[in-house]
Amino acid sequence: MSKNIFLIGFMGAGKSTIARTLRDEYGMRLIEMDEQIESQEGRTISQIFAEDGEDYFRSLETRLLVDLANEKNTVVSCGGGVAMRTENVAAMRACGRIVYLSAAPETIYERVRHTHNRPLLEGNMNVEYIEAMMKKRLPKYLEAADLTVETDGTSTLQICQEIFAYM
Ligand code: S3P
Repeated sequence: MSKNIFLIGFMGAGKSTIARTLRDEYGMRLIEMDEQIESQEGRTISQIFAEDGEDYFRSLETRLLVDLANEKNTVVSCGGGVAMRTENVAAMRACGRIVYLSAAPETIYERVRHTHNRPLLEGNMNVEYIEAMMKKRLPKYLEAADLTVETDGTSTLQICQEIFAYM
């Protein structure tokens, strides 16, 4: 496939799992944005937030997306905040399709509750906070998305088939 796929959605929506399956089942190259930024910076996302702040992290995300302009046949698992910036959405749209993976706040909570690698949820690990943050972000996710896939109650393989059929 010549097109790239950008997976957007809230933390814990399953972007990484779906991206890995698209790589394994459809032979796509995989870029995990958070991992790439961590390896470029030589520190974790939590460290970047703590040492240089969120705005700095957001500028790293934008730079990475711009650098992906010449990619082909690549699935990009985006950080959950990527679709919040108009310039990021433009960079993604210029070289691929944008797929929004949606999941219920309760599902998200169950997936992330025991993790400590997401600074925005540290100290806010509850369904109410996740729901409120998701509600705030939802218009941007929907506006950015070429395709929305509901992930609750759908298997990983089914989700990948739905995405691939759309491409
Ligand atoms: C963020 C999501 C995280 C990571 C950072 C900020 C967000 O990625 O980029 O903690 O603003 O939603 P995941 O969605 O992969 O957890």
